[in-house]
Amino acid sequence: MKPTAATVVCGIIGDPVEHSMSPAMQNAAFEAAGIDWVYVAFRVDRELLSAAVAGVRALGLRGLNVTVPHKVDIMSYLDSIDPVARRIGAVNTIVNGSGHLRGYNTDAAGFTHALATGGVNVAGRRVVVLGAGGGARAVVYSLADLGAVPVIVNRTPERAEALAADVTRDTGVDAAGSVLTPSTLDELARSAVLIVNTTSVGMSPHVDASPCPPAVLRRDLAVCDIVYNPLRTALMRDAGAAGARTISGVEMLVGQGARAFELWTGLGAPVDVMRRVVLTELGHGA
Ligand code: ATR
Repeated sequence: MKPTAATVVCGIIGDPVEHSMSPAMQNAAFEAAGIDWVYVAFRVDRELLSAAVAGVRALGLRGLNVTVPHKVDIMSYLDSIDPVARRIGAVNTIVNGSGHLRGYNTDAAGFTHALATGGVNVAGRRVVVLGAGGGARAVVYSLADLGAVPVIVNRTPERAEALAADVTRDTGVDAAGSVLTPSTLDELARSAVLIVNTTSVGMSPHVDASPCPPAVLRRDLAVCDIVYNPLRTALMRDAGAAGARTISGVEMLVGQGARAFELWTGLGAPVDVMRRVVLTELGHGA
C-alpha cells in the first residue's frame, strides 16, 4: 500500500537504529492487517530526544518504539507511564492517544510470549537469569508475574543483588542475586527448570562465546537466549546438543513487536507474518 495523505505513521527512535528489524516486521504486519499505516526508523541523538518527542506531538505520529540509548531518558518526556514500564524502569513503546503520550514496556510481554511458544511452565519453579541489565529487568519482572522464583547471576554481582531486591520489593517474589561463575551456575541450575541468557555474550561477531558451560545443561532444562543474532548462539547449540528444550530470542523480539502493534492498532497481531519477516531478515527465511 503506497503512503497517502491519510497514512498513519509509526516509527522507532534510537542510536544506532539502522540495523533494527522493527521496520520490516511492523510494515509487514500493517500490510497483512490491510491497514494504511507505515513504520519508519529515526536516528535520534541523545541531545535531541526532547525535540523528537515534541516532533511526535507536532506531526501526530500514532506511536513509537524506543531503543538504545533512550529507553530510560524518554520516560521524563511522556504524559503517563504504564505500571509495567514503571516497574521495569524503561519504556520501549509509546502510544499517542489524541496528543497524550503514554509509555509502555512490551519486552516483558514479549518474554511471556516466548515462554508460551516454548511450552515452559515456570510457576513455582526456579529460573536462573544470566545478566542484570535492561533486558534482565523485563525478563525477571515477567517471571515474577508468572509465579517463578528468579535467581539472577551477573558478572558484577552487586547489579544482580540490586535487581533481586527491586523485584522482591515490587512483587513479593523471593528473588535472589549472585555472581556469574561456572560453579554458581552449576549449583543453581540443578534445581532450575529454565535458564535465560540476557547478557550480550554470544552476540555477533563473538559467535563462539557462551555465558554458560555446556556441562551445566541437561535434557530436563529449557534454555532461552534473548540474543537472536546469530539465530543459533553457542548457548543454544550447546543446549540442543544436551537435549534441552531451546527457546529462540526471535520469539521475544516478535512478541514485543506484536504487543506494540496491538497497542497502536487495537487489532490482533499477525504473529506468524512477523516471525517469518524476522527470520528472513536474519537470513533463515523459508
Ligand atoms: P541490556 O540493557 O541490553 O541488558 P546492559 O545494561 O549493558 O544491556 O547489560 C548487559 C549485561 O550483559 C550485563 O548483565 C553485563 O554484565 P555486567 O553488569 O557485569 O556488566 C553482561 N555482560 C556483558 N558482557 C559480558 C561478559 N563478557 N561476560 C559476562 N557478562 C557480560
